[in-house]
Amino acid sequence: MKFDLVKEFNGHSGCKVLLCRDADKFFVRKLSGSLTYNKRLRKQFIKQKKFTLPFVKTPEIYNYGYSAKNELFFFDMEFVRGKALSDTIGILTATQIEAFIDLLFNSLQIKKSNVNKEANFIFQNKITRLSRIAGNKNRLIKQALNKLKRFDFSNIDQSDCCGDLTLENILISDDNKIYLIDLLDSFYNSWMIDVAKLLQDLDLHWSYRHCPPDINVNLKLLISKNILIQKILKLENGNTVLLQIYYILLLNVLRIAPYAKDKNTHAFIEKSIDKIISTINTMEQK
Ligand SMILES: Nc1ncnc2c1ncn2[C@@H]1O[C@H](COP(=O)(O)OP(=O)(O)OP(=O)(O)O)[C@@H](O)[C@H]1O
Ligand SMILES: [Mg+2]
Repeated sequence: MKFDLVKEFNGHSGCKVLLCRDADKFFVRKLSGSLTYNKRLRKQFIKQKKFTLPFVKTPEIYNYGYSAKNELFFFDMEFVRGKALSDTIGILTATQIEAFIDLLFNSLQIKKSNVNKEANFIFQNKITRLSRIAGNKNRLIKQALNKLKRFDFSNIDQSDCCGDLTLENILISDDNKIYLIDLLDSFYNSWMIDVAKLLQDLDLHWSYRHCPPDINVNLKLLISKNILIQKILKLENGNTVLLQIYYILLLNVLRIAPYAKDKNTHAFIEKSIDKIISTINTMEQK
């Protein structure tokens, strides 16, 4: 197929994300960064193709295959004209933020979830494997791992979810629709994992770790976090659910540690573990 390359987007996964044009039609091609990543990108493509969460969309898939030159997997999808929520949150009004959080929250499959009897086993398995590679030399990491090992994950709901719900992966189209990209299967699929990923940005500012502090962004993140937390607290056993989500968040942050290469990411991990542990301690004292 012949088409023009318009520009290359920035991603972190090693994939190439290309804006292309075929005659008058724009599309985005996501191309695996290596043969070993093919499998993961294929899973992402399948999940995106089957995507059915209410109130939110995902770009329509047009085409997929393996590049003839190097056998790397790719898929082509609808180009969403708009911006990532991470880029626009600073200029949104409180009312707009409330509307977006409402839509996102209503898309979560809370009512369509079930309890998996293996949940605690699956989580503890993950924690054991992580403790082998996360390095026991760091005092804070050790403390976090011990806390996670003592927690009971038995009641973590299992449900459909997006898998990587960071603000960078939420696109707001010019006509104000929410599109989710980068759908991933997590080691455990749960709407609670999506909320934990959201809090990784709203509470810990993950997507902004390389950016200079911005008072507008920080204020809007705080407003969003408070709206989201209030919604969780209103659920049945809301306090327990929120505690479970913060434990998942702690696990998420620790999972980043073995791959952290730069100073900002190391600083993010240290600061975040400290913050989550004190949030958890406060919740557990109540
Ligand atoms: N369908 C699309 N329409 C418009 N922009 C897109 C689309 N898909 C991706 N992008 C842009 O490209 C960027 C990178 O895409 P994507 O998140 O899929 O890459 P990635 O390498 O998997 O990144 P990461 O794993 O770090 O989230 C997005 O943040 C977004 O700006
Ligand atoms: Mg992304």
